[in-house]
Amino acid sequence: MPLFTRVSPSIIAVDYNNEEVVKSALENIEDAGANFVHIDVMDGKFVSNKTFDHKFVDFVKNHTTLMLDVHLMIENPEKHVDDYISAGADIITFHYEATDNPESLLKHIKSKNVLAGLAINPETPAYKIKDLLKKNLIDVVLVMGVNPGACGQSFIPGSAEKVAEVRELDKSVYIEIDGGVNVKNSKILRKLGANILVSGSCIFSSKNIKKTIRALKGRAWIVSMNSL
Ligand code: DX5
Ligand code: ZN
Repeated sequence: MPLFTRVSPSIIAVDYNNEEVVKSALENIEDAGANFVHIDVMDGKFVSNKTFDHKFVDFVKNHTTLMLDVHLMIENPEKHVDDYISAGADIITFHYEATDNPESLLKHIKSKNVLAGLAINPETPAYKIKDLLKKNLIDVVLVMGVNPGACGQSFIPGSAEKVAEVRELDKSVYIEIDGGVNVKNSKILRKLGANILVSGSCIFSSKNIKKTIRALKGRAWIVSMNSL
């Protein structure tokens, strides 16, 4: 399993309609040691909220050197995925529940040299993706810690067990946990096998973003020695 924990702050937790706010949030998380920026695309159909589309991804790409971790909470992701590839996404994650043919979409994303992520909702059991894992088609499994659609929700405890189940099925895939992640529950999530932690409200509402990101990584002392 990949050794280091990566942190992917979710930009949905800031006032994303304000370009200046977004630019300064991107600078702050980059300085604070984030590995990715998590971009929650919602279409108002797969989930009731609507956020932004590929033009926003394009804007983010132009204002950060962080890798772009794009989470599509949209219907018919196969129809839109190329727009996100063109916008410069480094990981594209779509929902297992949103398409009839996850296998071909995973293959398509991988063929474009973009990491392919598959997200599973709280009610979707881990075994459903067993065959896709066996075929080595998934680079990142995104386990939802909340029902998709909004930031600032409380973590659903069964999601931690699901992280362990996915890790049992595959020792090397990246496991991203998204929704309700905070410093307190990050320890057990890392232990059970999650190695990309998404956090919106916990990071952006904290007084010291750098310390929070270090704590989420669980490697505070190494990071601080490296920065001496
Ligand atoms: C939920 C999103 C998450 C969420 C993270 O639909 O996918 O990325 O916004 O925000 P917090 O960390 O506040 O739950
Ligand atoms: Zn997300």
